[in-house]
Amino acid sequence: MRNFKYLEFYVGNAKQAAHFYCSAFGFSGYAYSGPETGDKESVSYVLKQNNIFFVFTTALSSNHRISKWVEKHGDGVSDIAFSTDSVEQDFKFCVENGAEPLLIPQQISDEYGVYKIASLKTYGDVKHSIIDASNYKGLWKPGFMPFNTNNLCIASPNLLLVDHVVANVEDNKMNDWVSFYKKSFKFNSFIEFTEDDIATQYSALRSKVMKSDNNKIKLPINEPAEGLKKSQIQEYIDFNNGPGVQHIALLTTDIISTISALRNNGVDFLDVPDNYYDDLQNRIGVIDEDIEKLKELKILVDKDEQGYLLQLFTKPVQDRPTLFIEIIQRKGCQGFGKGNFMALFKSIEKEQQRRGNL
Ligand code: FE2
Repeated sequence: MRNFKYLEFYVGNAKQAAHFYCSAFGFSGYAYSGPETGDKESVSYVLKQNNIFFVFTTALSSNHRISKWVEKHGDGVSDIAFSTDSVEQDFKFCVENGAEPLLIPQQISDEYGVYKIASLKTYGDVKHSIIDASNYKGLWKPGFMPFNTNNLCIASPNLLLVDHVVANVEDNKMNDWVSFYKKSFKFNSFIEFTEDDIATQYSALRSKVMKSDNNKIKLPINEPAEGLKKSQIQEYIDFNNGPGVQHIALLTTDIISTISALRNNGVDFLDVPDNYYDDLQNRIGVIDEDIEKLKELKILVDKDEQGYLLQLFTKPVQDRPTLFIEIIQRKGCQGFGKGNFMALFKSIEKEQQRRGNL
């Protein structure tokens, strides 16, 4: 498995979701499939931004399995797809090592070549498709036609790639999924948080990070820990009706211009208390960015031995308090913002309280 290939979302209205990700998050239309291309059951819009591909899919009838998925979970990520050099070999390895197959290796072809795909089940109703499109010279996949949107956003955030995709799983299930990824996908575990690291008085989680050998695929896995109030991970699991993708982190090399653009486009971010910036210099040391500017845009900073990172989290991107997006810039730091979890949790709890779920 070499990299993230795309993330597919099952949604109630793909046409409107696609417009939102274009106008707010700076994606452009790329490819489309639906009745016009021979798919009578569902429509898919593929959006692209640099190396990020998001696919939004809606079924056209209420008894379709995708409609059932959306009824259960609300809009969310259904597929974290990886690119690979060998679909058959990887599929065989994963299945021999415990992964449940959802789609056995298929070769789909048209006049542009051969597209190879297989799918494996992971937590909840999420899957991993594994894709080899190296011998496919068409736009996206057989059955898709070009789909262009004019520049729908006010300002381009210039997001570059998917940095990591985070799962929320049920209490006491994190280690099962860590073993699953170690065994079936040969991923390594990377950094661990315990409830001693990530805890406020009220809310807590445990987290381990899985990664591919080349470091390009990073999949943190969270589970709720006991807190005085309801864990934000448990709130997610309740509203998602089970485990699922909690957030997608998108990488930028200029977070100040990215967050400025996203705020201009109307994206809502979690609030950060002003006093977060009071001791920032002491905590982080010298950084390239102007701290007043970070404070104005509410950008968070964390560091490890290798450097620092800047990050910020959106509010949920649908009405259920489930999936959200993280914007991240790495300046050497390979972590995930452990030092920001306290500040972040307090902010998330404020939102939970407003929803009456704390
Ligand atoms: Fe993250």
